[in-house]
Amino acid sequence: MIPIKVELDGKITELLVHKGKKLLDEIKEHNIKINDACEGSMACGTCHVLVDNETFKKLTPATDQEDDLLQFVPGLKDNSRLACGILVEDSLTNALIKIPKINRNLLSEHDL
Ligand code: FES
Repeated sequence: MIPIKVELDGKITELLVHKGKKLLDEIKEHNIKINDACEGSMACGTCHVLVDNETFKKLTPATDQEDDLLQFVPGLKDNSRLACGILVEDSLTNALIKIPKINRNLLSEHDL
């Protein structure tokens, strides 16, 4: 198990996540709201997250498919990734994963 922190709407939650699983699935498993319009099949870009800079450098790089989708996410930053494109590995230890506010806004509209 790998310890990480997830920030949503300013609230930080500490989680233990399973090595080898998709980060998206682990976040959802802990009942933290995150958009996943394509349910993790790397086709929508709505699971956009920001990874702390130190961890970002250590992660297995994004695939071309993930990079292509990232081009279209709102609020793209240098440390942007898609949560369904990150497999939990040792390099994620003590990471701070931030779910951007714009994703919460989209989720709120979706929930109406
Ligand atoms: Fe659609 Fe990650 S959930 S790209």
